[in-house]
Amino acid sequence: MQLLNASGCLDALTAPDVASSLDAFVTKTVTPEPREGNTPVRIAETDFGMLNAIGLANPGRDVFVRDVLPRLCDALDVPIWVSVGGFTAREYAETCEQLARDEVACVELNLSCPNVDEAPESAAEIVRACRDVTAKPLYAKVSPHSWDMGETVRAIEAAGADGLSLVNTLRGTTLDARLRPTLSRGTGGYSGPALRPVALAAVLAARRATSLPIVGMGGVETGRHALELIACGATHIALGTVLFADPDAPTRVRTELAAEIKSLGSGSAEDVFGVALDAVASEVNSATR
Ligand SMILES: Cc1cc2nc3c(=O)[nH]c(=O)nc-3n(C[C@H](O)[C@H](O)[C@H](O)COP(=O)(O)O)c2cc1C
Repeated sequence: MQLLNASGCLDALTAPDVASSLDAFVTKTVTPEPREGNTPVRIAETDFGMLNAIGLANPGRDVFVRDVLPRLCDALDVPIWVSVGGFTAREYAETCEQLARDEVACVELNLSCPNVDEAPESAAEIVRACRDVTAKPLYAKVSPHSWDMGETVRAIEAAGADGLSLVNTLRGTTLDARLRPTLSRGTGGYSGPALRPVALAAVLAARRATSLPIVGMGGVETGRHALELIACGATHIALGTVLFADPDAPTRVRTELAAEIKSLGSGSAEDVFGVALDAVASEVNSATR
């Protein structure tokens, strides 16, 4: 089990110690052109999490490869995953070509940002386009909005993905005192505690459909939350929103997870892997007997 950050939730250049306490660092999504992101207001608090409408603010792939990536390599001694975004399959693939360098351990395709327009192609078509041009490990980051997670995941696997990242944020809206949307874009990506049951269900559904590695994320704040994702079939865990409030979360969550596993009488995360899946399957079987 590896512990990562969720893309966009940690700036490794301002907090290299936090990034180095992970097993790998995942960058903010990189797009072909530089992006300022959406106009403020871009962040809103809610009762059970936060909304963000950052809109993939990033320096663009040329500056990323030339300036940011070397600085990340100097600052960190953990593998670097690069999150890739785009507006067509071709754009994703061209960025993947530019990332064919030793410093990049893995490419995570952001196929699910709720704050920008979607590419016209399906997630599987984008994965296929990238697979055709890169030998790097390719993880597909999928939206929890996906209606049939099993079908989506099978298509992504058939297109050549090496792993999945689940889940991105859910689209949400908050209103201010005058009943106007708080965020200037009107909607944003909903993250944090409210996402936990959504993430568990998505990982469970994906695990039924594939044996690919899955990075589970969505509202993880404690070792128990990480344990539950592993029980649903996650092989790795990513921390997102929690990092804004608690930069020590990686070390704390690791310690708590080890204690949770021990209290179950298990030796390692592997012993807990997928147990929720087995329980659902056997209950369904006994109900139909
Ligand atoms: C402020 C903010 C920025 C984000 N930026 C990105 C991004 O650039 N690319 C991406 O794939 N996901 C992005 N995400 C989504 C997270 O990576 C993660 O999938 C989501 O927040 C769920 O995890 P959490 O509930 O632990 O935060 C962002 C989330 C937040 C809160």
